[in-house]
Amino acid sequence: MHNYLLIKNGRVIDHANNIDAKLDILIKNDTIDSIAPNISKKDATLIDASNLIITPGLIDVHTHFREPGEEQKEDIYTGSRAALAGGFTSVICEPNTKPRIDNSDILKKVIKRGKEVGLINLYSSACITTGDKHNQLINIRELKDSGAAMFTDDGDPVIYPELMQKALIEAQKNKIMLSPHCESSNWAESITGKLNEEPEIFYVKRDIALVEKTNTSLHFAHISLEESLNAIRIAKSKGLNITCEVTPHHLILDKSYEKKYGTLAKVNPALRKISDVKAMQDGLRDGTIDVIASDHAPHTKADKDLVWEKAACGMIGIETSLGVLLSELVHKNIIPLNVLIAKLTCNPARIFNLPAGHLTPGMPADITIIDLNKEWAVDVNKFESKSRNSPFDKWKLKGKPVMTIVKGKIRMKDGIVL
Ligand code: DOR
Ligand code: ZN
Repeated sequence: MHNYLLIKNGRVIDHANNIDAKLDILIKNDTIDSIAPNISKKDATLIDASNLIITPGLIDVHTHFREPGEEQKEDIYTGSRAALAGGFTSVICEPNTKPRIDNSDILKKVIKRGKEVGLINLYSSACITTGDKHNQLINIRELKDSGAAMFTDDGDPVIYPELMQKALIEAQKNKIMLSPHCESSNWAESITGKLNEEPEIFYVKRDIALVEKTNTSLHFAHISLEESLNAIRIAKSKGLNITCEVTPHHLILDKSYEKKYGTLAKVNPALRKISDVKAMQDGLRDGTIDVIASDHAPHTKADKDLVWEKAACGMIGIETSLGVLLSELVHKNIIPLNVLIAKLTCNPARIFNLPAGHLTPGMPADITIIDLNKEWAVDVNKFESKSRNSPFDKWKLKGKPVMTIVKGKIRMKDGIVL
């Protein structure tokens, strides 16, 4: 016996396949069977998607689910549920857990736990460096073979240029992506001292030069400054294999929100000037920025309710990402809908080589259904996440995911995770 799901009358946006049309989608068990006008199938469970948008399952390549070690903030189960609530079917978790994911044992445990929970496609990255001083290159081949989706030292830059160069070459050999965090940290400054320029600009320029020298590729995590974006734009125009991402908060919130929201707005990279926020929007539109990722960073109230200097960096975002982006960018005509969807689906899938991001028959049936016009108010107390550190609490939004389907199973419907 096969299980059939038939999604009828929705507007399908599948950038990779050049589709933006009213079409039906038939799902057979866990797989996309066909996409065509007017499909009919006896015995199929019908989903009426009239007036709704159907996209490939959304992908968030930068999330912190905090397992192992800080399960009071989030864990793989609650993080997976938060992803579903936000319309995401695939995520890549960051390796700055406690301990760090810098060996195969921990990596395999995280991946195994993701599978046990089984709600979404959960991938994990691994660290670029290992050792007390982060001065040794991880065994990229071994960690890739153990399932790493990419490599990044979340929260810290790779301070040693020779090490970064070696990492780029090893990653290239093993056909896997590096995604450095071009930012400073207390640990980094204890070694390098304070840099003379913005750390993001310093490390972005250094890494572009290394990519050029070694003819390798690189994906920059959360870019936030006009000047680093300009450097990336020039690098791309020279044909270098460089991609980058931006967070919803760096696309929407400028520095003035620090006054308004206090430590809820404390994040690394920090919120920037309005001109930088505008530059991020331009970069998204002109293709310099390839991906939007939440950097969902859960923290407890106790870690946030401290004086500015001591409070934890980061904000949660996976449950508000789509709504915030639709309201503030699409409905305000700053970014076209299909461009936004590409940055959340086919682009991250292509860059990180994930089996997702397009709705081709034979692909896993990972699908997000969106009501572009649904008006709702963010309420952090209703989040699936364990944490509440969102600056978007009480924001009135327009546009919401209304169904999340993972491998043919309806996992979220009308905001309820099933
Ligand atoms: O704000 C941030 N929070 N930036 C990072 O790079 C790390 C993250 C976290 O782990 O909380
Ligand atoms: Zn991060």
